Amino acid sequence: MPPVQSVVVHPATSMRGRVRPPGDKSISHRYALLAAIADGSSLITGYSTGADCASTLSCLRQLGVSITEIARESDGLTLEIEGRGLGNLAPPAGALDAGNSGSTMRMLGGILAAHPFTATMTGDESLQSRPMRRIITPLERMGARIESREGKPPLVVHGTAAVSPLAYQTEVPSAQVKSAVLLAGLHAEGRTSVTESTATRDHTERALAEFGVEVTRHDPHTVSVEGRQRMMGRTLVVPGDISAAAFWLAAGASLSGSEIVVTGVGLNPTRTGVIDVVRRMGGRVTVEAAPGDRHGEPAGTLTVSYGGLRAAEVSPAEVPGVIDELPVLAALATHGGELTVTGAQELRVKESDRISALADGIRRMGGEIEEFADGFHVVGRRKLTGGEVDARHDHRLAMAFAIAALGATGPTTIHDAAAAAVSYPLFFSVLDALRA
Ligand code: S3P
Repeated sequence: MPPVQSVVVHPATSMRGRVRPPGDKSISHRYALLAAIADGSSLITGYSTGADCASTLSCLRQLGVSITEIARESDGLTLEIEGRGLGNLAPPAGALDAGNSGSTMRMLGGILAAHPFTATMTGDESLQSRPMRRIITPLERMGARIESREGKPPLVVHGTAAVSPLAYQTEVPSAQVKSAVLLAGLHAEGRTSVTESTATRDHTERALAEFGVEVTRHDPHTVSVEGRQRMMGRTLVVPGDISAAAFWLAAGASLSGSEIVVTGVGLNPTRTGVIDVVRRMGGRVTVEAAPGDRHGEPAGTLTVSYGGLRAAEVSPAEVPGVIDELPVLAALATHGGELTVTGAQELRVKESDRISALADGIRRMGGEIEEFADGFHVVGRRKLTGGEVDARHDHRLAMAFAIAALGATGPTTIHDAAAAAVSYPLFFSVLDALRA
């Protein structure tokens, strides 16, 4: 566990300024994983500075991948990754530690399933309580054998070079599961396809295409890949993380007189749902798309300003597109709006049980929130008072509570606020810099 560190967040009158968020966490993981199994070397800039993406790098190093950090800027790292080629990772000497990162464990699990050695993957207390059957089931059907503690980590992956292709229908909409199956399938002889009931983020598909793999989208819900296609090392730029930008969208929409410009943000349509919800809640958001896509990922500048707050709903079909932003959207509602979310039971198995942790924190700050098995209803009828809240080792909760705290009448102490470093190490200093 990271050290337990508390931060006190004081109320703000308004928030103004310009921010560049850190490199996208989801895209960073994928570029590193694909670079590791490509032929030749890749140069990646804008790689996420968060601890989760560092976990992916340390696991890859243990698998024999040479990774050189060439530069470290506040919004991203520049890395040179020497690819080992498809199916050619080296057996690790010890257990692979994915830290707090579900993405690392699930997506790397797909790659390890196709390697003829045994590797153990573990993680922190939070990761060890997260569900892994969702990858174990399809990867075992493809020929790997995976031991777990009743479906939870540590996972002992007994991979096979003779991994078989699979046509798989996911049980929960999850980009990590889709990616694990596609990455294993990339090593198989034949075509692997994944069908989802609700479309999820498509960064893996876009990244595979960038590395030279032909990926076929059959309809909005099915994607397939022919195995044994070799990838070429690439020079890639990771756009800013819209899930990190979401904190500033909420901050700008929450207090009268606010205006925040967020530059270099990834605008992949599978991730921009948060913009729609902030608008429906009353925030004014303008989107200025940068010309052309960079490596298949669109990006641009977002400008958000306060436009009053009103009641909004997030429907079950929208949930996969805003799953990581739901905590901060709840925080935005505490500023005088109202938000109802249903169909979001996945929130219960994220880095914490985000429904119960949000309800607990918002109530401790003097707010009103009703908890459902699959969602919540926040009513921002009266101003929060502030108080003491626990982020429960969960980065998105630490940051969401900070955004709620801006509108309180008194200070808020956020315990475990250091968890923010999992995706956004500079979050609290940027928060202070934006106070007008
Ligand atoms: C992610 C997918 C989502 C998301 C997570 C990142 C990814 O998880 O919540 O933060 O990069 O593919 P699930 O695949 O479990 O829905």
